[in-house]
Amino acid sequence: MHYYFITGTSRGIGKALVEKILDRKDTYVFGYSRGCNLTHDNYYHFNIDLNNAEHVSELTFPPFIDAESISLVNNSGALGDIGPVGALIDSGIANAYLVNALAPSILMNKFIRSYQDDKVRKVILNVSSGAGRHVIESWSAYCAAKAALDMFSQVAAAEQNEYWKNKTHIFSIAPGVVDTHMQDEIRLTDKEYFHDVNRFIEMKNNNKLSSAEEVADKLLKVLDTPEKFDEVLLDVRNF
Ligand SMILES: NC(=O)c1ccc[n+]([C@@H]2O[C@H](COP(=O)([O-])OP(=O)(O)OC[C@H]3O[C@@H](n4cnc5c(N)ncnc54)[C@H](OP(=O)(O)O)[C@@H]3O)[C@@H](O)[C@H]2O)c1
Repeated sequence: MHYYFITGTSRGIGKALVEKILDRKDTYVFGYSRGCNLTHDNYYHFNIDLNNAEHVSELTFPPFIDAESISLVNNSGALGDIGPVGALIDSGIANAYLVNALAPSILMNKFIRSYQDDKVRKVILNVSSGAGRHVIESWSAYCAAKAALDMFSQVAAAEQNEYWKNKTHIFSIAPGVVDTHMQDEIRLTDKEYFHDVNRFIEMKNNNKLSSAEEVADKLLKVLDTPEKFDEVLLDVRNF
């Protein structure tokens, strides 16, 4: 059986990925988000708010006796508060760090600890963002949190050969500009708080966004053949 732990399965990229995985034989998915509209015999949903660090710390990863592969996909993400620093709501800053950086870091730690003795294929795939690699004004907390996720992934990947016997493949991947609820939210931002909003509206009008399904196919490529990817930081637009 191929086991997957995937956060952010209620919509967008996460939901598309789960649907593709469950179309395959011998797969089982554990999903995590506040909402859920997926039902399948091989899907189990945890209703959880990943902004709640205490609840994240209580999560556990079960042992498997029949695993052929085990994967963790940290896909949940949110922009938090949009606007220039000085005009942000404190809780919006906190939430951006919690869901985009803290929760995935805790889950990575638990995953590696839980499966360090398992000799099967193990992959951690974090859904990051180009925003973690370039400055986008008005997205400070989101940019900083995704940059933290990238660095946490790079350090954890570098440690794999040094500290653990049975390697876990670790990646942090930018999905490009994807036609999901997150982009709907971006386009609705007041220009006063996000001067670049028209660029995102134009991208949508000019059909420049990729679909969640296209991105899910790229994520599956990494999950299926992690040994083919040498870098920790990936971008779906490069393969
Ligand atoms: N769309 C893009 O253009 C784009 C670009 C770069 C990076 N990304 C990244 O891609 C990933 C997926 O985003 P998407 O585009 O598919 O956006 P989306 O449609 O808004 O989906 C976001 C997912 O994250 C979950 N989530 C958000 N806050 C959460 C919380 N506090 N606790 C638990 N789950 C939470 C949501 O579930 P609930 O609301 O039900 O909890 C939802 O399932 C994110 O990490 C995002 O940063 C997207």
